[in-house]
Amino acid sequence: MERTLIILKPDAIQRQLAGAILGRFETKGLKIVGTKFTQIPRATLEKHYADHKGKPFYEGLVSFMAKSPVLVLALEGKNAIAICRKMMGATFGSKAEPGTIRGDYGISDSFNLIHGSDSPAAAEKELALFFQPGELVQYDLIGAGWIYDADELK
Ligand code: RTP
Ligand code: MG
Repeated sequence: MERTLIILKPDAIQRQLAGAILGRFETKGLKIVGTKFTQIPRATLEKHYADHKGKPFYEGLVSFMAKSPVLVLALEGKNAIAICRKMMGATFGSKAEPGTIRGDYGISDSFNLIHGSDSPAAAEKELALFFQPGELVQYDLIGAGWIYDADELK
């Protein structure tokens, strides 16, 4: 099992798409293990986007991300990181394939609705930035066996 950090960005909240987007992950079979509806402080965003510091879009990105509350999610599942990235689609809404979240809900390049961890190392770091260890919940989904083709159901 893997955990990944997803942020439904300010444009997703302001365009009232949070439920629709979260619903896609639930429908896929990913398990919600943490949520936080919060306006992210600039200092946290600077840590979160440290790798992008100095790039032309950095200042605009940090300022956009601080403009509105966001929905921070911790999702769990087998290969959750890669699956979520695939569901998100290409970075720019103008290029993202239909059927992906960015492809279906947006046209903007910078306002691209969603963030998702891009590797296990990034997920670990990002989850720790937004959640205290005790805030991530451990529980079983009653339908887990059906989601993951359990042997006893065959
Ligand atoms: P994310 O980190 O948000 O999941 O998206 P990503 O990996 O697909 O994209 P990344 O290269 O990490 O860029 C982070 C975010 O910066 C904004 N961006 N704007 N206007 C631009 O040229 C530009 N390039 C990147 C996007 O909001 C992107 O998600
Ligand atoms: Mg990224």
